[in-house]
Amino acid sequence: MKALIYTLRILIVFTLFAWVTGCSATDHSNTNAENKSKGLALKPVSDTSLDGFRAQGKLIVKETFIALSSELKNAIQEGGVPHALSFCNAAALPVTDSLAKIYDVDIKRVSLKNRNPLNQADAFEASLIETFTKLSVADLSQVNMVVQDADGFPVYAQPIILGENCLQCHGSIEKDIRPENLKLIRKLYPDDKAVDYNVGDLRGIWRIRFNIKVTL
Ligand code: HEC
Repeated sequence: MKALIYTLRILIVFTLFAWVTGCSATDHSNTNAENKSKGLALKPVSDTSLDGFRAQGKLIVKETFIALSSELKNAIQEGGVPHALSFCNAAALPVTDSLAKIYDVDIKRVSLKNRNPLNQADAFEASLIETFTKLSVADLSQVNMVVQDADGFPVYAQPIILGENCLQCHGSIEKDIRPENLKLIRKLYPDDKAVDYNVGDLRGIWRIRFNIKVTL
């Protein structure tokens, strides 16, 4: 019900965009060219329309995803999953925080079944996730949302979907996660809830909050 109240006092807009949000690394080569052609500077937010926030949010998610996934890929190559787990533990939040500073926004990846306690969805974020849970897997990969939070800040939200290459750290504890890796996960995150996901599951959302109060 709370979810409904939040969603009622804000404007929710879904849009379809032909952009692959899967877990495999996205082609980065044309990002800057794309940004230029759309006249978008990632910092500061120049267009405070709904579409402006959506376009900025989408780009910030894309850039952050690329940064995180390339770091993750390197860490796995360097020292396998155990090294990558320790790497994520130390670096995931600093990476998102440093990008947030550059873009002057607040970047979070939040989940109802989270690993790091700092990534647990609050009531507002949970309401956004619930809105997405009603969608099919096909729609999830193409949808996003721009809403206004209770303090009047615009928030861009986009689903995070579980891919094949996420299973070794977030999949079934019986089938997908090796016992030694599970042990390390539980050591690093005693309250871990981010296991037993299947491919195509809604893993959580990207939540980008802009530091500009506007009425959308
Ligand atoms: C090498 C293991 C590993 C792989 C592979 C991996 N993750 Fe994670 N993931 C982690 C760790 C560790 C954290 C906690 C990071 C932190 O402490 O901030 C995490 C956190 C997250 C979070 C933030 C919410 C939370 O639960 O804390 C999301 C969302 C997420 N992962 C999604 C994915 C997706 C989608 C994939 C596949 C592209 C993936 N992960 C692949 C280890 C992994």
